[in-house]
Amino acid sequence: MRLHLNENTAGCSPAVLEALRALGRLDAGFYPEYDAAVAAAAECFGVPPEYVLLTNGLDEGILASAGAALRERTGRVPEALGVSPAFDMYDACVTALGGRMVTVQMGDDFRLPVSRLLDAVTPETRIVYLANPHNPSGCAEPLDTLRRIAREVAPAMLFADEAYADFSGETLIAPDAFAALPNLAVGRTFSKAYGIAGLRVGAVIAAPELLEPMRRVVPPYTLNAWATAALPVAIRDRAYRDWYLRESQESRRLLSAAIGTLGLQTWPSAANFALVRVGDRVGQIVEALAAKGIRVRDRSQEPGCEGCIRITAGLVDDTRRAIAALEEILCGARR
Ligand SMILES: Cc1ncc(COP(=O)(O)O)c(C=O)c1O
Repeated sequence: MRLHLNENTAGCSPAVLEALRALGRLDAGFYPEYDAAVAAAAECFGVPPEYVLLTNGLDEGILASAGAALRERTGRVPEALGVSPAFDMYDACVTALGGRMVTVQMGDDFRLPVSRLLDAVTPETRIVYLANPHNPSGCAEPLDTLRRIAREVAPAMLFADEAYADFSGETLIAPDAFAALPNLAVGRTFSKAYGIAGLRVGAVIAAPELLEPMRRVVPPYTLNAWATAALPVAIRDRAYRDWYLRESQESRRLLSAAIGTLGLQTWPSAANFALVRVGDRVGQIVEALAAKGIRVRDRSQEPGCEGCIRITAGLVDDTRRAIAALEEILCGARR
């Protein structure tokens, strides 16, 4: 059981699989056309198509935003700002492109340290990366807090990573959002709720002027034909996505109850995973779960996540099995 990467543990919708099976030699032979996929994504997010940049997973959207933000050189090293712990691609992309990733440590409650974050803005700050819900804790911030940060960090870009917004049900994307906040870019992915992580489709949504330099970073045929064909079908199958959201929500509830019973610490997650503090024996627990065929993510090496693992909250049946295994390992160890 793959409970370590927050994927859709049920996979893609059957309608997507059918659409992929219908593809043929010419789909493989020709460069893809993106109009239908962009139109479907734009409709899904409720924005005009020119506000959408499709990317090869949100990972590429993060890379494109770093490439665009760090492009101009003044003689000093350009900076990106974020929190710690965080999704590791922000640091990886910024560093690879010659920028400096500056991070502000979160407290034990995993709330955004807003004033310390704003204090860390310098004249070199070009972009601020914040995931909402946060990864790895799953905690969600009020949207007004993020809007305030966007206003205060301007002209730097706020890249609001909404990889898990399908699960929280809250998004900064709104018809007038980008007129009010021209420095706001929102990252989304179809890897999680829509179950097409293997096909690699993400999107950056922003005002056309902010997107333009990112478009120049992303190669013209970045989505392959299979991903391009799958996207509109995945978006149309709303019932499948909604069913999975309900499974994940129930899994979160079960996980949270079990973690409480086991006397472990967790945080209120609005995403499809939970961070759990299992303590000093974290390495052994991860190994014991792996021996039972259950992969979870060891986050214990990151500051603020000491003794923690992250578990995907996907299909309810998988979650029940994971809980039973965790109970067996922890209670066995106490005896
Ligand atoms: C916070 C966050 N942002 C972005 C991504 C990347 O998603 P994608 O699969 O679309 O590249 C992930 C994937 O785990 C994530 O957790």
